[in-house]
Amino acid sequence: MRARVSRRAFLGAGAAILGAMRMPGDSAGGEILERPIPKTGERLPAVGLGTWQVFDVAGNAAEMAQARDTLRVFVERGGRVIDSSPMYGSSEAVTGQLAAELGVQAKLFVATKVWTSGKQAGIRQMEDSMKKLRVERLDLMQVHNLVDVSTHLTTLRDWKASGRVRYLGVTHYHAGAHADLEKVIARENVDFVQVNYSLVEPEAERRLLRVAADTRTAVIVNRPFAEGALFRRTKGQPLPDWAKDIGCASWAQFALKWVLADPAVTCVIPGTRNPAHAADNTGAATGPLPDPATRAKMTAHFASL
Ligand SMILES: NC(=O)c1ccc[n+]([C@@H]2O[C@H](COP(=O)([O-])OP(=O)(O)OC[C@H]3O[C@@H](n4cnc5c(N)ncnc54)[C@H](OP(=O)(O)O)[C@@H]3O)[C@@H](O)[C@H]2O)c1
Repeated sequence: MRARVSRRAFLGAGAAILGAMRMPGDSAGGEILERPIPKTGERLPAVGLGTWQVFDVAGNAAEMAQARDTLRVFVERGGRVIDSSPMYGSSEAVTGQLAAELGVQAKLFVATKVWTSGKQAGIRQMEDSMKKLRVERLDLMQVHNLVDVSTHLTTLRDWKASGRVRYLGVTHYHAGAHADLEKVIARENVDFVQVNYSLVEPEAERRLLRVAADTRTAVIVNRPFAEGALFRRTKGQPLPDWAKDIGCASWAQFALKWVLADPAVTCVIPGTRNPAHAADNTGAATGPLPDPATRAKMTAHFASL
């Protein structure tokens, strides 16, 4: 049975950890922090796994073995949300194959995307993705980079009504599209928005994350390390001493806990094919999160590097 920690109990027990907090609605599902999908209350582990580039490894036995180990470690540590796209080469097929080989299909919350124009092309692509991912029903289908968004959302509403997808959403990866994302989530009653947000690319906090919260739209954060650029800034730099007060053992955890400390965020999906990195990243969803003052200190510290 999963232990739930109420906010009051956590704050009481954790009063000794200065600068640390949990958000309303947070719960610890065993070891890993979970957050509710606002429109249904279904809970998801707060750290997921991105597959762009890293799972596009069909035909390379050594890289397939790395991807298999990464998925195994991710699930062992309580991870469930995995994100792919037909844009990511063989990633969907590799995800489907490895999930079947590891016997973890039932545990995963599988998200992918539609990335084409036209109703029939969208339907063909989504059906193809389901075959590659080896699922009868997708947990989440997202319109990738808002391509032909109205057309696909119309199809997806029908698919949701008939049970072929459980949730629908929209994605982008660039601040230049945040205003468009904002319009869509304000107008279209989508379940999820996926967007870039990190210490390197913090623009979503200006407006988009607040609009998501106001519209009860779940937020999946992509590019939490700005595609690795964050580690070029932190290279050779020690973590500040106070990072241990919020449970950070690495710069990756520093970056992910900073993202998760925004209460609008449901789940963050760092991409990796390194099992040790998968363990490091899921570790960010354990222990305390920074309170607003500590988070501001993290922002300032990162800016000083
Ligand atoms: N438009 C869209 O919908 C869109 C756009 C972009 C991304 N996405 C989704 O978001 C996911 C994440 O974004 P991303 O992959 O572009 O960038 P990211 O997660 O910000 O960064 C990935 C990079 O970080 C490294 N890394 C991961 N964990 C690490 C750790 N603990 N320590 C050190 N390095 C680590 C990875 O290398 P290693 O493999 O060596 O760990 C990889 O080079 C994608 O995979 C994709 O699923 C969606």
